Amino acid sequence: NLAAINGLESGRLRIAAVTTAEYFVPDLLGPFVTAHPGIEIELAIENRDRIVQRLQQGMDDLTVMMMPPNDPALERMVFQQNPLIVIAAQAHPQQGKAITLADLANERWLMREAGSGTRMAVEEHFQRLQFTPNVVMSLGSNEAIKHAVAAGLGIGVLSEVAVCPPPLHLEPHSTQHSTEHSTQQSTTAPRAPGIAVLTVEHFPCVRQWSAVWHKTNPLSVAARTFIAYLQNR
Ligand code: PGA
Repeated sequence: NLAAINGLESGRLRIAAVTTAEYFVPDLLGPFVTAHPGIEIELAIENRDRIVQRLQQGMDDLTVMMMPPNDPALERMVFQQNPLIVIAAQAHPQQGKAITLADLANERWLMREAGSGTRMAVEEHFQRLQFTPNVVMSLGSNEAIKHAVAAGLGIGVLSEVAVCPPPLHLEPHSTQHSTEHSTQQSTTAPRAPGIAVLTVEHFPCVRQWSAVWHKTNPLSVAARTFIAYLQNR
């Protein structure tokens, strides 16, 4: 309804997203900015700790994360699944076999840095399963983990979206029904080079992506429209 989006002709939408969301949030923004070209988007990308700080300081209109803090003052809307998978070097001997976590007890595990939501989710998952990984290294980004795994330094757990990014939706500009015309590329997303996904019991560990905001913050029209857009995808 046009009247509802009138307030959207100009303005700013400040979104903060955790590092793992950088693999899909820009793609999500595509159809939204095409429909609302007057909105200036500011997208901040940091790890979970930093994003939670920004949330507490009210720096952003909306936050995209997997592990929202347990705070009754926050509102959240789950909009997408986030499977976490075990990755190893392409030549890993267990590649292609169905294995147990116990089979990986002697592996060298590579973890994201303290403060990462991915690390928090992996630690919680392993704790619940009473599995203690042999952690030999912490690395400060998903890309660093992928390169270290491909180089044979160890194995790790990352969001599937960081390893097998979804194919880009190439939208032609300016058509209202652009998704109908989008050039859908191969349905099998390409995998990061040199990396195999291991088939391990209790994986994928399926978590969710949420949009999060303060209940007391009056949401801007742009923020409300973006939430509705996420909900209706
Ligand atoms: P990360 O975040 O990029 O900090 O690992 C994932 C999350 O917290 O949702």
